[in-house]
Amino acid sequence: MKTAPELQNIPRDIPLTTDFAQKSQLGYKVTRSMARVLNASHMALAEAYINGLEIPDSLLQRSIHASMPVLFKHAPGVLAPYEWVLNETNRIAEGSRELMKVQYDLPQAMLNQMLGDWKLIYPKYSMGLWENGAVDLEESQKHMIDQVINRLGIEDGDHILDFGCGWGCVPNYILSKFPNVRFTGLNLSHEQCEYMRRKMQDPESYLSSGRFTLYEGDLNDAQFPEKFDKILSIGVFCHVGNLTQAFQKLASLLRSGGKVFIHIITVRIPNNFSSGFTHKYIFPNGRYWNYDAVPNHNQDLKTVQRWYINGTNYHQTAMTWLQRFDSSQETVKHLDYGMDYAKFRRMWRFYMLLLGTIFATSDGEYNGNGQYLMVHT
Ligand SMILES: C[S@@+](CC[C@H](N)C(=O)[O-])C[C@H]1O[C@@H](n2cnc3c(N)ncnc32)[C@H](O)[C@@H]1O
Repeated sequence: MKTAPELQNIPRDIPLTTDFAQKSQLGYKVTRSMARVLNASHMALAEAYINGLEIPDSLLQRSIHASMPVLFKHAPGVLAPYEWVLNETNRIAEGSRELMKVQYDLPQAMLNQMLGDWKLIYPKYSMGLWENGAVDLEESQKHMIDQVINRLGIEDGDHILDFGCGWGCVPNYILSKFPNVRFTGLNLSHEQCEYMRRKMQDPESYLSSGRFTLYEGDLNDAQFPEKFDKILSIGVFCHVGNLTQAFQKLASLLRSGGKVFIHIITVRIPNNFSSGFTHKYIFPNGRYWNYDAVPNHNQDLKTVQRWYINGTNYHQTAMTWLQRFDSSQETVKHLDYGMDYAKFRRMWRFYMLLLGTIFATSDGEYNGNGQYLMVHT
C-alpha cells in the first residue's frame, strides 16, 4: 500500500464559495448544471439498483474505477451535487434527528455485526488502519486508535471529550491503556447510548471504571460543567455543516493549552464532495470536506499539523464491513428496518460498494481520511 504524498497542482474548476459574483460567472453556472445532470444519472442508477436491477458487484466497481479518477482530476466541481455542499449551514449540524432515524438508530444487531464487537474494540464506525500490517478488522481499529493516541499526544491523567463517540469504542480502548485518563462521551444516538449504558454496568468494560461519563445529546447544544485537556472527534464532521461554529464550540470546551484532534473523511479536490444517494438514503445532509477546509477555518482554533491517510485503508475497512454484512444475512434479515428487507439490503449493499470502491480509486490519493491537530488561536 502506498503512503500518500501531498498532491501537487490540484485542479481548480469552480470557486469554493458561492457568493454573488462567483454565481454569475458562466463557468460556475455550467459546472452547477453538469453537477445536476451527473446527480440525476447517479440517482437513477442507485434507485434502479435498489428496486431490483441486477448489476454484478464487479461491473459497478469497474464503472466507479473508470469514472472517479476522471472526475477527481478534471471536473471536481460536479462532485458537489447541491449548492449547500459548498456552503456553510446555519447551525453546526442540520437535520440531526432525521440522521439518527435514517442511520445511527438502525437495528443495532445489524450494525454491531457489520462493524465488529469484541472485548476491547466495540463497534467502530470509522476507518481502520491497515497499512501497518493489520491482519483483521479488530487489529486495524486498534492500530487506528494507537495512531490517534500518538498524534494527539494523550497523557495519563488527561480528561478527554469524545465529540460524537459512537458506541464508546475509542474511550474504552484508551481507558484500558491509561489508568488515570477520564473520558466524556457525547452522542445523539439513543441506541448507541443504550449500548454504552449497558457497558457502564459490565465489570469487564472500562466504561464501567467510573472514568467514563456519557451525555446523550446533540452536538449543536453541547455544554459541559468543566473544560477538557483534549478533545477528539472521529468520523463525525461529515455531519457538520458549519466549521466556523463547530470550532467556536470546541474552542469554548477546551482548556487553555489543550489540543483538539479531528479525524474526517476528506477529499483532495478544491470543493467539498457529496452524493445524492447517500443524502437521501444513508446520511441526510452529509458531506465530505475538502482537505483544506479545516485549516481554512482558523478563527477560534488553528491547525498546527495535518495528515492525509490513503483511502485504500477505508476501502479495506468498508469491504470487510460488506463481507460481514453479507455473511450475517440469516440473522439480520429478520430485524425491523421500517421497509421491506430486500429493498433495505440492496440499498445497504449499494452504499457499501459505492463507499468502499471510491476510496480505492486513483490509488486512494484523492478520497481518504484527514487528521488535524488544532489548538486555540
Ligand atoms: C460515523 S459515526 C463515528 C462514531 C465514532 N466516533 C467512531 O469512530 O466509531 C458518527 C457518530 O456521530 C454521532 N452524531 C452524528 N450527529 C450528531 C449530533 N448532531 N450530535 C451528537 N452526535 C452526533 C452519531 O450518532 C455517531 O455516533
